[in-house]
Amino acid sequence: MSLKKALLLVVALTVAAFVLTACAGTPGPEGPVGPAGPAGPAGPAGEMAELSCKECHNDTAIITGKKAPWETSGHGSGTAFFEEKDRNTCVFCHSGATFSTAIAEGKNFAEVETGDANPTHQDCRTCHQIHVTYTSADWALETDAPVAMVTSGATFDGGSGNLCANCHQARRYMAGFVAKDAAGAVIPDQYAATIRFNTHYSVQADVLMGLGDFGVEGKPGAHYSMVENTCVGCHMGESDAHGFEPSLESCKACHADAESFDINGYLTKFEEDYKTLEKGLVAKGALAPADDGTFATVPGNYDTALAQALFFYNTVHEDGSEGIHNPTYFKALMENALAAVK
Ligand code: HEC
Ligand code: HEC
Ligand code: HEC
Ligand code: HEC
Ligand code: HEC
Ligand code: HEC
Repeated sequence: MSLKKALLLVVALTVAAFVLTACAGTPGPEGPVGPAGPAGPAGPAGEMAELSCKECHNDTAIITGKKAPWETSGHGSGTAFFEEKDRNTCVFCHSGATFSTAIAEGKNFAEVETGDANPTHQDCRTCHQIHVTYTSADWALETDAPVAMVTSGATFDGGSGNLCANCHQARRYMAGFVAKDAAGAVIPDQYAATIRFNTHYSVQADVLMGLGDFGVEGKPGAHYSMVENTCVGCHMGESDAHGFEPSLESCKACHADAESFDINGYLTKFEEDYKTLEKGLVAKGALAPADDGTFATVPGNYDTALAQALFFYNTVHEDGSEGIHNPTYFKALMENALAAVK
């Protein structure tokens, strides 16, 4: 914590303590603040409380200016939070209210026992400590502690991006799909693909760190180790942008001449390779055209190499960055996958 933040916190706590004492009406010696008593006028204490509310609820755009872009983001506009509210396996990430409670109890997404009767979007209260001290110190993040990841067992330690990694981590790897025979014995070198032969959409933290059993040994890329505050650095930038879309500005600290995300033609090449992989998987019968123009997994047992290619194809879709989260890792995974569909 910076000295400035620490000082703010001390001031905030002192004010809060003062307000609380005064509100509780603790009788005390008479003094310049006037007569104390439960029925008495709030006096200076009231003014203090009002002032601390004004640190946020004044006529500036401090709340509305963040709320407008937030409303258009997936966090503010997604509907899955409501659709999945009854499922204990979903609500940690999908309901902001459950997230706050679970974080306070030290639980991860796999440890929540019930659904959420009053689910919320991933809103201001999900990420910030709103209405705790009732001062601007409540903009502090709900958590920025390193995250012990559930599926990989690794620790994600990326500054304020740790907040994000609690939810944006894989729910399962390929190991969750080993093929079994009718008697329940593992069939060696085979994976059983279902229509959910994927990590879930939330695999971004794993990708940054090069984790997963998808075919090649990865390692943390520069975008994990060098970008200050990882996710927050690219997705919120210097201006605390609450649309959560990565900004080109944030790339320029390192890629000074960048004019688009297609740095050194990485995306152009990756997209070409992805099309080749798609065609190869269709030819092998592991993917088939779906009604909406995309391609879907054909359920069935596949040998390890083809299974890895298919799982990687789906991971690219779930991660959503075309490998920008860890270009070196995704290039190696792409090579491995293409070799399997040759
Ligand atoms: C750290 C900034 C901050 C401070 C200080 C603060 N609030 Fe809030 N308050 C918020 C935010 C953020 C929301 C949610 C806004 C939204 O979703 O539109 C909110 C919402 C509210 C609401 C709407 C109902 C609700 O709970 O969502 C009321 C009423 C409110 N605050 C009263 C107060 C009062 C009274 C104080 C002082 C005792 C206070 N606030 C101090 C940030 C703050
Ligand atoms: C409480 C869990 C949670 C936290 C914390 C969280 N997210 Fe999300 N995020 C989600 C969920 C769930 C969605 C999908 C919402 C939906 O579609 O209903 C999402 C969607 C997104 C999207 C896609 C947005 C879009 O418009 O489709 C981005 C980008 C994103 N989050 C980035 C972040 C970043 C950066 C952070 C940290 C500052 C973060 N998230 C923190 C759960 C979380
Ligand atoms: C570890 C956190 C986590 C858990 C647990 C989780 N999700 Fe998600 N889910 C996410 C994130 C993060 C996204 C959005 C990522 C993105 O936009 O790229 C998402 C996206 C989705 C979407 C797509 C939303 C859209 O608007 O397109 C659906 C549907 C979904 N999840 C359903 C579920 C269901 C059902 C469960 C429980 C069985 C579940 N999720 C459990 C984190 C999680
Ligand atoms: C998905 C998580 C997330 C959500 C949702 C979110 N914020 Fe933030 N917000 C952040 C992060 C991360 C920062 C950067 C602060 C940091 O790194 O400590 C931030 C910064 C801010 C700041 C600047 C704080 C400061 O200390 O100067 C304000 C003000 C703010 N947010 C308001 C809001 C409001 C209002 C909402 C609801 C409309 C909201 N935020 C929703 C994650 C979030
Ligand atoms: C080096 C910068 C960088 C870092 C660090 C980074 N991202 Fe991204 N992220 C991107 C870019 C660029 C995209 C692709 C956006 C596009 O194509 O519009 C992206 C895509 C995404 C998407 C898919 C968005 C969508 O609309 O489907 C999500 C979700 C996401 N990132 C979340 C995260 C999370 C969570 C972290 C941290 C664990 C993170 N990112 C770290 C740059 C970054
Ligand atoms: C803190 C420095 C830093 C920031 C900020 C950063 N990058 Fe990078 N990036 C690197 C380094 C170092 C490499 C090469 C090493 C590696 O791939 O891990 C790299 C590699 C890449 C590559 C692969 C290039 C190639 O030749 O194949 C792409 C694409 C990329 N970055 C995109 C982005 C985008 C888009 C952003 C902003 C959203 C961004 N980077 C932000 C440091 C950064």
